[in-house]
Amino acid sequence: MITVVGIGADGWPSLSPETRELVLSADLLVGGERQLDLVPDDAAGERRPWPKSIVALVDELPALDDSRSIVVLASGDPLLHGVGATIVRRLGDERVRIVPAISSYALACARLGWPQADTELVSATSRIPEVVVPALQPGRRIVVLGFGARSAAEIARVLRERGFGASRLVVLEELGGEAEAIIDSTADDWGDRDAAALHVVALEVGGDGRLLGRAPGLPDDAYEHDGQITKSDVRAITLAALVPVPGQLLWDVGAGSGSVAIEWLRAAPGARAIAIERDAERARRIERNAVALGVPSLRVVNGEAPAALDALDERPDAIFIGGGLTTYGLLTRCRKALRSGGRLVANVVTVEGETLLSRAHAEQGGRLKRLAITHAEPLGAFTGWRPALPVTQYELRVP
Ligand SMILES: C[S@@+](CC[C@H](N)C(=O)[O-])C[C@H]1O[C@@H](n2cnc3c(N)ncnc32)[C@H](O)[C@@H]1O
Repeated sequence: MITVVGIGADGWPSLSPETRELVLSADLLVGGERQLDLVPDDAAGERRPWPKSIVALVDELPALDDSRSIVVLASGDPLLHGVGATIVRRLGDERVRIVPAISSYALACARLGWPQADTELVSATSRIPEVVVPALQPGRRIVVLGFGARSAAEIARVLRERGFGASRLVVLEELGGEAEAIIDSTADDWGDRDAAALHVVALEVGGDGRLLGRAPGLPDDAYEHDGQITKSDVRAITLAALVPVPGQLLWDVGAGSGSVAIEWLRAAPGARAIAIERDAERARRIERNAVALGVPSLRVVNGEAPAALDALDERPDAIFIGGGLTTYGLLTRCRKALRSGGRLVANVVTVEGETLLSRAHAEQGGRLKRLAITHAEPLGAFTGWRPALPVTQYELRVP
């Protein structure tokens, strides 16, 4: 059994007598230098600091565990974006026991008097502060787990750039430790200052930034694009058919500006997506859009489908075909790639594309629909209805 023990910033005294005994009698202690230093010298076990690649040692743990008892030391609650989560993900939950301490998230909420269930937790441990963007809605309370001394300044910058500089920004340093400090500021006033290396940032969103929700169908001009974009109304209907689910994987084939994959990720935190786009400039634009809209985890593959799909090693739960449908073999290749329970959605605006979809509908079943959206627009001194190109959409669910 591998035991992962969380230690608070108050160190050794934060552990219960049983947990201390567990640590003192372990054959092998694994942890960050900071956590290992908190363990008294009379702990008998070998001490091993995390190497650069934590994952390599995590994979080694089961073999080491055969003859010895292993304790992994983590900070706070190991399962809250911590090493405990990495270990359970790789080794499964059966051979791992978790002993949590109070998380920095719980401490931050406690210091501010914010109910945890009404507060959003965002991890910026990937070092990209834009991950906070999907949560930027008026009045929203957010706690961001940071990535070192620069995170407060970087998060403040992201808010200012989007018109949310008036937001309350509280920097909570060394929570639970002797050097604990809480600095109440705003994103405007915080400026570019460094904070302590260990801190979390709490935000209460204010200001007059643009309102962008999590529901699909963001305005087209929320994206950088060259006209190759699934338009807002059609996109909302498309995402509803794809059904974003946390943990599930989408392939966005012929991704254009990446809007479908980006909204899949925004709609379901923890969902995953790969955008496949043959045009190199568009592929770079997709990357920029993903960061700007707060979903930097989007993987972009610059290549031509269906050949480019062969390099993808995991079967998807949903596939959207927004381009390349008439490329030989693409539709069949995509349908066969889907996992059980998967959803395929394809949109076309050409007669040639529609012919393929109507054949697929006849052979495979599914749903075929036509979306004809008409917007009111100025017509001289009056207003007239301007129809967009009708889109034919095919939707198939595999058993
Ligand atoms: C209409 S756009 C898709 C719009 C996209 N859903 C969006 O919202 O931005 C079609 C895109 O598919 C790309 N494309 C066409 N055939 C392709 C293929 N076989 N493989 C990969 N990309 C392809 C084009 O370069 C173009 O960017």
